[in-house]
Amino acid sequence: MHQTKEEFGMNYSSFETEVSKRRRPATIRELTKLAYSSPKSVISLAEGMPNEETFPFTEISIKLKDGSSFTLEDRELGAALQYIPSQGYPPLLQTLREFQRRAHAPPLWESRDIVVVSGAQDGLSKTLEAIIGPGDPLLVHDPFYPGVDVVVAPYQTELIPIPQDEQGMVPEILRETLRNRELSGKKMPKIMYINATGTNPTGVVIPLERRKEIYRIACEYNFLILDDDPYHFMYFEDVEPKSFLSLDTEGRVIRLDSFSKVISSGLRLGFVTAPAPLIASIERHLQSSHLHAPTLSQVILYKLMKLWGYDGLMDHFMWTRHFYKQRRDFIAGIAEKHLNGLADISLPQSGFFLWIRVRGIKDTWKMIMQRGIKENVIMAPGAAFMKDSTKPCNAIRASFSKASYEEMDLAMQRLGNLIRAELRNGFTYMKEDTYIN
Ligand SMILES: Cc1ncc(COP(=O)(O)O)c(C=O)c1O
Repeated sequence: MHQTKEEFGMNYSSFETEVSKRRRPATIRELTKLAYSSPKSVISLAEGMPNEETFPFTEISIKLKDGSSFTLEDRELGAALQYIPSQGYPPLLQTLREFQRRAHAPPLWESRDIVVVSGAQDGLSKTLEAIIGPGDPLLVHDPFYPGVDVVVAPYQTELIPIPQDEQGMVPEILRETLRNRELSGKKMPKIMYINATGTNPTGVVIPLERRKEIYRIACEYNFLILDDDPYHFMYFEDVEPKSFLSLDTEGRVIRLDSFSKVISSGLRLGFVTAPAPLIASIERHLQSSHLHAPTLSQVILYKLMKLWGYDGLMDHFMWTRHFYKQRRDFIAGIAEKHLNGLADISLPQSGFFLWIRVRGIKDTWKMIMQRGIKENVIMAPGAAFMKDSTKPCNAIRASFSKASYEEMDLAMQRLGNLIRAELRNGFTYMKEDTYIN
């Protein structure tokens, strides 16, 4: 269902790498798609599908916490255990298209499409690999989710870091950076990575006006926006953030959704929404790697979405939001108590993380990675989220998603002790995992 018409008037091939442009659709995968969409009267001997009679499963039953349940058996179970078209399990794809249309009302919806991927990280790597080739620069907010760096570092990508303030990426600095780059004749970026809601690690939700300004700059300087938005439905304020997708009149937004944080991370499911030619390119990449995201997961998600409907899913998201908001409030209070005078903390507006800036300590890396482990507390050192992780950084990221309230309390208490001892004793660290007092 990819449309070849480029109704947005953008030349998407100019954004793709030469490698990506050379990828051809895999014939057998295309035949699977054809077989799936053909009438029942068509007999396909084209594909190498195993016969489901050889599979040892007869039934998979799923019970939900709300008391409802569903069972996969017979043909449906057969389908759930089988190969499917790379773009995704067709009934799920259709459900996701309807969901996305309702959730974001994207302009020119007919020119966009969806591909199901194995989580946002999978969507992220396939998208970046389609667009970023050796020597291509990438715009990022600094600090940023390190899952980006692991994808682009082997390409020796030049990261263009745009600093954040308490409202996220600063548009004025973005514009100035691009203007200076253009004036100095440097290669201009084709794409920006942004994680606008519950920015990992700072927990910021970029306000609407700023999103609009960033989008205007993208149009002015002709780059794509890769909006990695796994925390979209986990905002802690009253108003749902407006996504870049819903602002995208020109067809320059690639949106990553993930079910990891709201349904299950082990299902490994997410989906990419983008202009149809870019989705086709990501699909070709899927055809050359893991063929498709796991069918069983896709069928389970489809059944769940059908059972709950849009409103039921939104109710679940709201419940999830309250769950994490309580935890956010708890850790913020406990951090205030144990780190009083030792650190600066801003209240995360979405997501899982508290971003702690320690006072009087230049770099937290060794304090956390060496002494922290010995003192029974592990958090993520801030430098891990910076463009240059070898440079000192005084921040720490603490997750409030999973540990019990008692554990979070104890962890903050231990962090307070760690910081106080560091300030008192000025530890000298050795290179690797030891330290001398
Ligand atoms: C910003 C961001 N993007 C992507 C991911 C990966 O998510 P998924 O499990 O959907 O691959 C994470 C997970 O922590 C994340 O925080």
